[in-house]
Formats: sequence, structure tokens, C-alpha cells
Amino acid sequence: KPNTVTCTAPVNIAVIKYWGKRNEELILPINSSLSVTLHQDQLKTTTTVATSRSFQEDRIWLNGKEEDITHPRLQSCLREIRRLARKRRNDGDPALDSKGLSHKVHICSVNDFPTAAGLASSAAGFACLVYTLARVFAVEGELSGIARQGSGSACRSMYGGFVQWIMGQKDDGKDSLAQQVAPETHWPELRVLVLVASAERKPVGSTSGMQTSVQTSRLLKHRAESVVPGRMVEMIEAVQRKDFAAFAELTMKDSNQFHATCLDTYPPIFYLNSVSQQVIKLVHRYNRHYGETRLAYTFDAGPNAVIYTLQQHVPEFVQAVQHFFPPETNGGQFLKGLPVDGVA
Ligand code: DP6
Repeated sequence: KPNTVTCTAPVNIAVIKYWGKRNEELILPINSSLSVTLHQDQLKTTTTVATSRSFQEDRIWLNGKEEDITHPRLQSCLREIRRLARKRRNDGDPALDSKGLSHKVHICSVNDFPTAAGLASSAAGFACLVYTLARVFAVEGELSGIARQGSGSACRSMYGGFVQWIMGQKDDGKDSLAQQVAPETHWPELRVLVLVASAERKPVGSTSGMQTSVQTSRLLKHRAESVVPGRMVEMIEAVQRKDFAAFAELTMKDSNQFHATCLDTYPPIFYLNSVSQQVIKLVHRYNRHYGETRLAYTFDAGPNAVIYTLQQHVPEFVQAVQHFFPPETNGGQFLKGLPVDGVA
């Protein structure tokens, strides 16, 4: 009978963005990045992995549809987990037998949010895959380096709270790992809201988009070398001090610079649409109106806005959104108010 394990993994939203690789196969970035891991109740991936002697081959289903298991990134994750599993048995962990090590897996993964709408579905997806496979094959320890080889941003979803992905220096990527900066309990008032401007698939995926940016954008090179290192230090300090104004300003500036590098890419990449631009204006007007920074926006490779704010400002901001984007205009749909929490 099959051995079955089910796990869930959360989405993370970067406040210092990852954009650009120095190694495509190992997925090594040109700059460090930092994100907040969201609450598992709301936006998550659920993955079930079954192993059985009777399975003829590895197979995978995503949201109910069978996908190609020979995808190189899937193969990297499967290979690395099996390698660690074999190593642990060879090192002679007496609690483990090697029965089942050669068994094939059937993987079934579902997202509870729109795939490829810029909501970092690959991050939760690969984090969940790696975590679940590790449980099935009784692998323990540092797994973010394996999740990274599925999708760069996935390494940050292996931890809860505030997480940095340290770019590392080594050619083999051994030092390119995620690390928790502060736990999910650190800043309980922080809230994340997702404003869905469009649930359509993004025109340019992050993988190919960042490839073109690395090849063509000098602004991206400048950003990676001269801007992000300082911002990482300032962002970690802002998180540690729970300084919302500093956190918010860095978040907005970094999102804007990321989208500026997309415009500087040739041919240019447009991820923001007119609704996104209206949200940006609304946030700045809102903050100016109150004479303090109460909101921050950030956008990934798509038009949906992610808003960071503090608990006490949520009801009023939701009202403002409903006023400026009434449902009948269909301009922007208010999605979810998410508390910040960690992985399970
Ligand atoms: C804009 O992790 O999806 O969301 O490593 O090629 O799979 P690959 O890219 P991916 O890129 C995410 C880019 C981003 C910024 C971020 O999450 O840091």
C-alpha cells in the first residue's frame, strides 16, 4: 500500500525583490532579497506525495492536470532529495531502512489562488514539493537550497515570518540559502492585503523576464551591485525595530526600482497596468492625507497590488478601496486581508 504524506506551504511576498540570476541551472541570484511569509489559511499550496513499490514511474499533477515530470527544475528537486535520503542511510542512521528509497513517487499539488497571476505560486509550489518529498524520504535539515533549485523565490517560503535569501558567493551555490530574520510572532500588527487587478496569466514569466533583464539592463546591474546591499541592511533594521514608516518606504522604492529595471529591459517588460498605477497613486495620496506612512504597496511580475499596513488601519483602507474601486467598475477586486504567519 502506498506511503502518503500531505503538507501545505505558504506564499511569500518580497519587499526587497529578487530579479536576475548569475547561474540559471542552480538558480543563483545576482542580489539578496527579503520577504514576508503569509498566513497559511489563505494563500497556500497543498501537496500530497505517495510512494509505492507498484508505481512504474514518477508522475505529477498540478491543480488536477498531469504535467511533465521531466521538467528540469522538478528533476533537480527530486534528485537532490533522493541524494540526501541515500546519504542519510549510508551514514547509517539506525532508525531508517533503505526499503522504499528506489520507489517512484506520485505528486499531486493544488493552489488555492490564481496560478501565474503574479501571486508567487511557484514559490509556495516548490517549497511545498521539497518539504513534502523530504518528509516522505525522511530527510531533515537545511532544505532551502533544494527549494531554490525549483524556483528562486521558493527558498524563502521554507521559513515563516521575515526571511532573507542570502545571495551567496560560491559557484556551487552552497551558500545561497534562505534564513529567518525575525519570526512570525515578531510583528503581529503587520497585515498584508492583496488587490487583484487581473487574474490573467502574466505575459512574460519571471524566469524569462529576468533573463532578458540581465542581458540588457544596465540599471539592473547597478541595482544589484550598488543599491540592494544597502537596502538589505536597512530593511533588516526596519523589521527589527518594527519601524513601519522605514519598512514601507524601502518596500515601495524597491518595488518601483524593480519595475524600472523591467522598463529598462530591452524590449521592455510591462507588469503594471492602469489599475496598478491607480493603486500606487491612492497609496501616496492616502499617506499624505494622514501625514504619516500608513500603507505600502509592492508588485511582483504582474499587476496585482500587495499592500502592507498595520492592523489598526485595515478597516479604513478597505473602505477607501471600496470607494475608489467599486465592484461594479470591475477595476480592481478586493481579495483578502491576511495576517502574517509562518510555515507549518
Ligand atoms: C518578482 O522565483 O518566480 O516575484 O527563480 O526563475 O523561478 P525563478 O523566478 P521566481 O521570481 C520571483 C520574482 C519576483 C520577486 C521576488 O519574489 O523576489
